Amino acid sequence: MSATPPVAELELELAPRAAQLRREIERHNHAYYVLDAPLLPDAEFDALFAELRQLEIAHPELLTPDSPTQRVGGKPLPHFAPVRHAVPMLSIRTETDTEASGAIAFDARIRRELELSESDAPVAYLAELKFDGLAINLRYENGVLTQAATRGDGQTGEDVTQNIRTIRSIPLRLQGTFPRIVDVRGEAYMSRADFERYNARQRALNRPPLVNPRNGAAGGVRQLDPTMAAQRRLSFFAYGLGEVADAAAVWPLPATQSALLAALQAWGLPVCAHRTVALGAESLAAFHREIGRLRPSLPFDIDGVVYKVDSLALQQRLGFVTREPRWAVAHKFPAEEALTVVEAIEVQVGRTGAITPVARLTPVFVGGVTVTNATLHNLDEVRRKDVRIGDTVIVRRAGDVIPEVVNVVLDRRPQRPNRDLFDAEPLYPAFDLPQSCPICASAIVKAEDEAIARCSGGLICPAQRKQALLHFASRRAMDIEGLGDKLVDQLVERDLVRSAADLYTLDAATLARLERMAEKSALNLLAAIERSKQTTLPRFIFALGIRNVGESTAKDLAHSFGQLDALMAADLQRLQQTPDVGPIVARSIVDFFAEAHNREVVDRLIAAGIAWPTIEPSVAASSPDSLPLNGKTFVLTGTLPSLSREAAKEAIEARGGKVSSAVSKKTDYVVAGAEPGSKIDKAMQLDISIIDESQLQEMLSS
Ligand code: IVH
Repeated sequence: MSATPPVAELELELAPRAAQLRREIERHNHAYYVLDAPLLPDAEFDALFAELRQLEIAHPELLTPDSPTQRVGGKPLPHFAPVRHAVPMLSIRTETDTEASGAIAFDARIRRELELSESDAPVAYLAELKFDGLAINLRYENGVLTQAATRGDGQTGEDVTQNIRTIRSIPLRLQGTFPRIVDVRGEAYMSRADFERYNARQRALNRPPLVNPRNGAAGGVRQLDPTMAAQRRLSFFAYGLGEVADAAAVWPLPATQSALLAALQAWGLPVCAHRTVALGAESLAAFHREIGRLRPSLPFDIDGVVYKVDSLALQQRLGFVTREPRWAVAHKFPAEEALTVVEAIEVQVGRTGAITPVARLTPVFVGGVTVTNATLHNLDEVRRKDVRIGDTVIVRRAGDVIPEVVNVVLDRRPQRPNRDLFDAEPLYPAFDLPQSCPICASAIVKAEDEAIARCSGGLICPAQRKQALLHFASRRAMDIEGLGDKLVDQLVERDLVRSAADLYTLDAATLARLERMAEKSALNLLAAIERSKQTTLPRFIFALGIRNVGESTAKDLAHSFGQLDALMAADLQRLQQTPDVGPIVARSIVDFFAEAHNREVVDRLIAAGIAWPTIEPSVAASSPDSLPLNGKTFVLTGTLPSLSREAAKEAIEARGGKVSSAVSKKTDYVVAGAEPGSKIDKAMQLDISIIDESQLQEMLSS
C-alpha cells in the first residue's frame, strides 16, 4: 500500500467528506441560530467551515447549491425577478381595540360563523406573536431551499433568494420527512440587538442609521447586493404554509395550526416559542396581557399578537373574505413610534460636564407610556437629523430604551410667513450648542476630536456637583442610603454641600430645615453617612468620579497601588502599568489629582474618618496570555471620534493585541472611524467584524 491514495480514490473520499461537512455545519448553524445552544466553540466551527471551503475551491464539482458556504456568495443583481405565488399570500384583519374586547370580538365572530351556541365548548385558538418585519415565502423542493420571495401584492412578489440565504437561522435543507414541494411562510426581521449594532456602526462611519428594525429588515431583504443584506444579520420566524405538493405519502398534513408549527420546528425552521393554544376569549385576552407585559424585554419588535383558529378543518370551513382569512385576526399593541412636536431643545449637564441635548416634546403616548423628553445624544446627532424647535418628529420608545427622536417630518416644519411662496424660510434656525452652561454659565467647550461637548465649570457647576454627589453616594460607590435626587438638589441649591467632604459635616439641625425631611429621616441619613466611613479602597477611588475610571478600573488601581497616596503621586508611566489602564485613563487620573481642589476634598474626606482595610499592592506583571486582546489583530481606518491613531494603537498593544496596516484573512477586527478607506470594503468581502470606537473601548476595558 502506498502512503498517498491514488487520485480516483481521493475523489471518492472527498465527496462524502464534503457532504458530511455540509451536514455538520448546518447542524451547528441550527444549534447556534435556532436553538440558541451552540454545540462547538466558534474556532472549531470556523475550522469545519474552512475545511469545506478549501474542498470546494480545490474541487468545484463538489459544490452544491445547499452548501453553507453559499449563503453569501452571489453577485449583485440588476433587479429582482417577479415570483408568482402558487397560493396567494394573505394579510390579516386587525383588531384595534387595546383592551380584552379585541379577543372577545374575535371569539364572538368565530362562534357566530360556526353557528355555535352558548352551551357549546370553547373554540381552541393558536395565539402567537405578530412580528414586525416582512412576510417571506420559502420554497423547499425535495427539502432544499430553492427560492425565497417577498409577499409583494399577495399574488406576485420578488425573488430575494440570494438575500434570504444570508439568514443563518433559515435551513438550506430541511430535516426529517417533508413534502416534495413545500412553501414555508414566515417573517424576516431584525433583532433589536442587531439593529443597535448596525446603527452604532453606521454612526461610526458617518452614514445614516436605520430608522427602526422593521425598515432594517425590509431594506435588507431588498438589497440587490447580497453582501449588503448579510450585514443586516436578519432573523426569521416561520408561522405557516403556502403550497404543499405530493405530501400525503410521506407527510400526513397536521390537523391543527399548533401541530403545523411543531412540524415546521421539526424540519429545523425557527418557530417562536411564545405561542400557546388558548381556549376561548378570556384565554386569548390573557395571552395578550402576558405578551404586553413581556414586550419591552423581547429581543425583537412586535406590534401585536395573532389569534388563529387552531383546527385546520375549521379554518377551511371559515374561509376568506376578499384577501383576509376569517379564521385569523391581529390584536395590536400601542405603537412604539408616534408623531409629536418639539417645543424646545435644552441641554443637560452630566457628572463630568458632558452636555446632552434633549428635546422637550408635546406629551405623546408611545410604547405604553407618556413621553415628554427624548434624547438627541450629542451635537453631531442633532445636526445630522436637523431637529429644530417647532418640528414635528417621530419619537420611538421600544423596549426599555430611552425615548429618542427618529427623524423630522420636514413637510411640517414651520415656515416664516413670506409673500414669496417659493422662497419660504424655516421659522427656527438650526440648533447650536449654547456658548455657556445653562446652569453655571461657565464656557461650554468641545475638543476637536471629541463628539461630546462639556461644561468647563467643574465642581463650580451645580449640575455637575449634584451628579458628582449622587455618584459619590451611589450604591456601588460609598453607598449612602437615602441621599437621593431631591435631597441632593436641596443641599446644593442652598449651598449646604459644595463637595462630597461637606456631607460629613452635616448635622441634624441643618437637615431638619430641609423640605420633606422629618427628624427620623434626618437621623437615618446621618447614620448612613457615618456608616459609609468604613469602606474599601476600590469603592473610594470609584466614588471620586474621576473621568474614565469606572468600577473595574478603580478596583485595578486599588490593587496595583495598595495606597491612595501612591495613586495620587503616580505619573503617566506608572499608572499604565496597571492592567487596563491606557494613556487616556492615565491622563484623566493625573489631571484629576493635579487639581488642588480635588486633593483638598480627598484630604478632608480622610480627615473626616473615611478608612478602608489595607490592600497589598501588586504591580501586575501580567503575563501576555492573560491580556484581553492577546492574539487579536486589528486594522484601523478613518478618523475615530475620540482616540487618535497612536492612542488607539498603544491601547490595543498594551492589552496584548496587534495593529496591522492591511486587512487580510488574519485580521480579527477592523476599527472604523469617519471617512474610512477601502479597508472597509476589503473587510466586508472577507466577512471580518467591523467595529466602531465605542465597541473598541468596550473591548479595551473588558
Ligand atoms: S399569518 C393568513 N402570522 O402580518 C394569514 N402573519 O397582515 C397570513 N405577520 O403579511 C399571515 N406575524 O407579514 C401571520 N404570526 C403571524 C404574523 C404575521 C406577523 C405579518 C405578515 C403578514 C401580515 C398580515
